[in-house]
Amino acid sequence: MNMVDIITKKRDGEELTPEEIRFFIENYVKDRIPDYQASALLMAIYFRGLSRAETFALTEAMEFSGDVEDLSDLPGVKVDKHSTGGVGDKTTLVVAPVAAAAGVTVAKMSGRGLGFTGGTADKLEAIPGFRTRLEPAEFHRQLEELGLAVITQTGSITPADKKIYALRDVTGTVESPGLIASSIMSKKLAAGSDGIVLDVKCGSGALLKDLAEAENMADLMIDIGRKAGRKMVAVISDMSQPLGRAVGNALEVEEAVQVLKGGGPEDLRQLCLELAGEMIWIGGRAESFEEGKETARQVLSDGRALEKFRQMVRRQGGDDRIIEEPERMGSSRYSRDVLAGRTGFIAETDTREIGRASQHLGAGRLRKEDEIDFTAGIRMHVRIGDFVKEGDVLATLYGADSRRLEEAETILEAAIRISAEPAAPPKLIQKIIQ
Ligand code: URA
Repeated sequence: MNMVDIITKKRDGEELTPEEIRFFIENYVKDRIPDYQASALLMAIYFRGLSRAETFALTEAMEFSGDVEDLSDLPGVKVDKHSTGGVGDKTTLVVAPVAAAAGVTVAKMSGRGLGFTGGTADKLEAIPGFRTRLEPAEFHRQLEELGLAVITQTGSITPADKKIYALRDVTGTVESPGLIASSIMSKKLAAGSDGIVLDVKCGSGALLKDLAEAENMADLMIDIGRKAGRKMVAVISDMSQPLGRAVGNALEVEEAVQVLKGGGPEDLRQLCLELAGEMIWIGGRAESFEEGKETARQVLSDGRALEKFRQMVRRQGGDDRIIEEPERMGSSRYSRDVLAGRTGFIAETDTREIGRASQHLGAGRLRKEDEIDFTAGIRMHVRIGDFVKEGDVLATLYGADSRRLEEAETILEAAIRISAEPAAPPKLIQKIIQ
């Protein structure tokens, strides 16, 4: 077996065997296949696609390319949650403590920001002192004693995905359904939970632009998970505008805490109840999804979820005083309002561009080695469907560099379209697949 034959076979539209896929993964991880051959194969896959059988084989080869977590010694059903990535998506900060407060063990490995999308690990690190890296023994102990830990993925899990993702990022091969599904599911399967709730985002601020694409992706990931013996649920949710009002790390932690206190923006609260309800149900702490959602509502309103969040923050070294005093996460040197250029209805937002503006302000990385400015970001003041008058404030920008604030203002002005015609607000929960 050799790489040239494998590349040529895929280029000509033939199906690769599981052995050929394993050959590629095992040798690429060991640096025995050069990046130019791996890139050629990825581009052939991008154009020819992957069959279900190829996607299963690729997921499995990547899952076992490094260590896999064994959580079987922990009692009960362990549940994980994954979002395909969006702008202002801080749901993990809410749903993980809500599900844990309801008795589900939540062992969550989270990623960092990727391009225009934010990452939960970066958000948590906006809390002074918070450690997202725990040794395996400490991770296990915390799960045993608290039922909740949110950490970054350790370097030894799915090294194949890490290497291939970095290559896809720079070779124009990210947007391929089979590659996305196998990348996400290999990490989730290796992380060891028994159940996985997927939040598949769809719209201008997501990798998947329309409902049909999102449904295909959800169906594919559910199929992969069930074949591996996991309980799977997917929620397809709208990402045609940022979720909630805050975009940027410290701003998002503050907003998540508002929801944990029983307030916060309605869309964020609604999606969190949906996802947490599913987690509680597949985690065996409710007879039905409806009962799971009701339990989620209860632990939010009686303060148990907030208390769980506080315990996790303390346990992972963070300063829990940020719950009462969010200003302890710092504040930006500059702020700037983005004003409406005309009177009318908010018709559309280019959410990817809003994410890009936030990244430009310092909330995300432009290069891998960049430091994040945790206080940078955007507060949105309008939603699709709102009526605004010329001069009203559409958004407020925060950052440490006044020139970048001006540039971000230009991006935002172009990203928020105002129309004379009334516009209907998008439906937040587009579909649930149980
Ligand atoms: N998130 C991932 O982890 N992998 C992808 O390929 C896309 C989004």
